[in-house]
Amino acid sequence: MLKKTKKTGGFASGIGFVLAAAGSAIGLGNLWAFPYKTAENGGAAFLFLYIACVLFIGVVTMICEIFIGRRAQANPVSAYKKINKNLGWIGLIAVAVPLLITCYYSVLGGYTVKFAFGSFVGNTNSLTAFAGKEWQVILFTGLFLVFALIIVMAGIKGGIEKMSKVLMPALFLLLVAVVIFVLFLGEGVADGLRYYLIPDFSKITWDSVLAAMGQAFYSLSLGMGAMIVYGSYTGKEINVLKSTAMICVFDTIVAVLAGLAIFPAVFHFAALEGVAPENLKLNGLMLMFETLPKVFESIGYAGNIVEFFFFAMVVIAAVTSVISILEVSSQFLIQKFKIRRKLGSLIVAVFAFSVSIPVGISLGNSLNGEATMQLFGLDYLSFLDTVTNTVLMPICAFLSCVSVGWIIGPKKAIAELETEGNKFGALKSTVAVMLRFIVPTLIAVVEIFGLIDLIFPSGVFSANGLWITVCSFALLGVAVAVYFLFLKNSETGSNADEKE
Ligand code: PHE
Repeated sequence: MLKKTKKTGGFASGIGFVLAAAGSAIGLGNLWAFPYKTAENGGAAFLFLYIACVLFIGVVTMICEIFIGRRAQANPVSAYKKINKNLGWIGLIAVAVPLLITCYYSVLGGYTVKFAFGSFVGNTNSLTAFAGKEWQVILFTGLFLVFALIIVMAGIKGGIEKMSKVLMPALFLLLVAVVIFVLFLGEGVADGLRYYLIPDFSKITWDSVLAAMGQAFYSLSLGMGAMIVYGSYTGKEINVLKSTAMICVFDTIVAVLAGLAIFPAVFHFAALEGVAPENLKLNGLMLMFETLPKVFESIGYAGNIVEFFFFAMVVIAAVTSVISILEVSSQFLIQKFKIRRKLGSLIVAVFAFSVSIPVGISLGNSLNGEATMQLFGLDYLSFLDTVTNTVLMPICAFLSCVSVGWIIGPKKAIAELETEGNKFGALKSTVAVMLRFIVPTLIAVVEIFGLIDLIFPSGVFSANGLWITVCSFALLGVAVAVYFLFLKNSETGSNADEKE
């Protein structure tokens, strides 16, 4: 048989990889968390801070994660095993975190699908009604997951890469169209821009710095195995430095544009209705699913169309993110148990769907003001979000930097990363210092202050916060135990194991 010179399993092109990774990075974090955090923390002042965090922590961590995957050409467990046999448990955490995220992200994905469909008939005041209709929430969550599953089943090149190449430009065009429409709405637009963008450095506090760092991690999909896995499907032909720079730039542009669409629209609506913008709900779920539909639908039929564009864009952002985390656990199952891609991804999706049912119901109860189905004072969605975001993701990102900076060592890592026409040159020593000292320290700061804020919110001890922390570390302990008991001395596979 003829030996193929080009590997068949991975991304076909550098741009395909960049778009898929940008697809993972650009998600709900960009579209609703970033604009709100920016407005709250001094506008453009926060933007500068955020960009600094992306440059100083995000870029280096992303390079590490892509590199860890690429050098191993394997799932995260095998990839960390390759660094050192006693480190494979880090890989297992990097697989477990995205699995947990999938279970709640799909519920939110379901909401976005429902609101995209609802744009034409009107979504005003339908958030709590929809959230309370359990079978509908389950149906839309399932629909969203099926869509993502079909893409993952089709493989890296034929599914994820192909769809990212279509969906990412589509997302960008839709977003630009919405921004242009909104900027011409007239009354209130200038106030919205002012609220969003005027730099107010007096609003920058220690908390804003932490918010910016946390946002940079989440938004760049770091600390959750996604970049390791996508990195594993690339080869030496890809310039990691340049790709990382492009992913970070795309991610930041989309976040900034999202704010340009949201705030002028909201302020326009506030001006028309004669209400103070501060009295509108500008945070998280409420901003996206309650305030924005009202805003768009107040504009008339054109507003419904723009609303559809907007939610279609949010669906795309959510789908291209969820496929990256669905891929993480699927890849592990496929390689560890030598099963087919379709079966591996189906198992993951069925698991995620089963868990997402109680998660969706719990969220619905909480949105309807019922404190039933909660864990430590939080609905299941917020619980999973806190466990992953606040506790486990920074740990995972920290360990990826330390593994590259201290175990592999910067010299060896940089030598492996350098290719023809891609030399680090004078940057070498700067990268080494950042990798070994600065970035791990900054991530540790995010983790420690995140935990303090969880256990002592506003300075007062919270038993719930403590329990959430205990649960998260227990999970970490389970991952370590499972690794040493079952995985350390057994074969965990590599990309080459996937049957075409
Ligand atoms: N980067 C994503 C975002 O901004 C975070 C994420 C990625 C969440 C992948 C889930 C899955 O929303």
